[in-house]
Amino acid sequence: MGRKGKRILIVGSGGREHALAWAVARSPEVEAVYVAPGNAGTSWPAAPAPERKRPRAPASSIPIAAEDVEHLLAFAREQTIDLTIVGPEAPLALGIVNAFQAAGLRIFGPTQEAARIETSKAFAKDLMRASGIPTADYRVFHDLEAALRYVRRRPGPLVVKASGLAGGKGAFVCETREEAEAALIRIMHERIFGEAGETVVIEERLEGRELSLLALVDGQTVQPLLPARDHKRLWDGDRGPNTGGMGAYAPTPDVAPNDLDRMVRTILQPAVEAMARRGTPFVGVLYAGLMLTAQGPYVLEFNARFGDPEAQAILPLLESDLLEAIEACLEGRLGRVNLGWRPGACATVVLAAPGYPGPVPKGLPILGLEEAERMDDVWVFHAGTARRDGRVVTAGGRVLAISAWGPDPRTAADRAYAAVSRIHFEGMQFRQDIGRACPP
Ligand code: AMP
Ligand code: GLY
Repeated sequence: MGRKGKRILIVGSGGREHALAWAVARSPEVEAVYVAPGNAGTSWPAAPAPERKRPRAPASSIPIAAEDVEHLLAFAREQTIDLTIVGPEAPLALGIVNAFQAAGLRIFGPTQEAARIETSKAFAKDLMRASGIPTADYRVFHDLEAALRYVRRRPGPLVVKASGLAGGKGAFVCETREEAEAALIRIMHERIFGEAGETVVIEERLEGRELSLLALVDGQTVQPLLPARDHKRLWDGDRGPNTGGMGAYAPTPDVAPNDLDRMVRTILQPAVEAMARRGTPFVGVLYAGLMLTAQGPYVLEFNARFGDPEAQAILPLLESDLLEAIEACLEGRLGRVNLGWRPGACATVVLAAPGYPGPVPKGLPILGLEEAERMDDVWVFHAGTARRDGRVVTAGGRVLAISAWGPDPRTAADRAYAAVSRIHFEGMQFRQDIGRACPP
């Protein structure tokens, strides 16, 4: 007999993927969600009736790595998956979308060519320059000596970036010329990012508040999601080493609807048009990392996917059906979709393992998850977690992302921190100021 509903595969294992699985499992059209490889949070049973926090459709983790395109494709075929959604950038860079499309399978995300907007910073900068998208002044170098000569000539603070993928660690924000020289030597001579550092971008350093502007894109039309703010540094007050993101909140009260419209018109729309003109239309989530400078918003980088932890702050506020919006992207009819949002705000606090963003121990038992989960308007999204002998233990650097709703970011953050206070594992690191220092 015919199937009851759609079967969805989410690729990835972080808090973002848990949030995506949760969001699509709420769709009345979905029969089952699979997350590959997922984590200890990405399996749950079917619920008799949908609730705000508990989706109706069940989910299960599938032990296939996010980069194992061949086995993901085989799984999608065998399990007659109706739609695959790609979380992280690595499989996009490997061409997972091209491979699924060639096999006639539906998948949401940009092709390898379109993902270059994230996987090559040199490409992204050239595209911005050619399209008049505001971005810091820059030069691209393939040769260490030439890069060093440039840095020695150039006054003012610089940022040195590996052009390729470096897991969010590829940008060195430098105070002095010596720091910029040291960064170049680490990237191009010591090759700390391998091939990703064969090309570098050196750019002028900008000042301002950062903003993550994510949008659904169908190749042509851009539908912005709520603007979010990530906290990338490890310690309070934006100090310490850069991380993948220690927390986020959405929406950002300091960005007026008019400003948002302008950013879509002057940044996202021209980027999407330029990609289409080049014969590599962008379908998926386009994420502009912006610096709000005194001269207006400037693009620091583009990403070709949902942000982590931005997704964990944005998706709990989405009242529309995420699956429907994604299908509209794949069918080129995003212009007819209206996204509805729950009023108020969501704040997400990341709980990281001791040692993060460096090497971390694994297998630390996590306590208090059920108690935190029981709280109203709190979502416990798992990231680096695993199940061992029936217990949930740590299994990565960013371990959990605790999201909470509130009428404004501060109240949402207070609720998230109340949930955080229920949770414990040895050496747990988190920031105390997520959503709390937010400008009015
Ligand atoms: P990226 O990987 O390009 O997003 O850079 C990572 C982080 O480095 C950003 O989130 C900013 O905090 C910082 N950054 C990058 N580019 C610049 C810039 N031109 N000026 C100041 N800070 C920057
Ligand atoms: N939160 C930063 C990122 O997802 O790249």
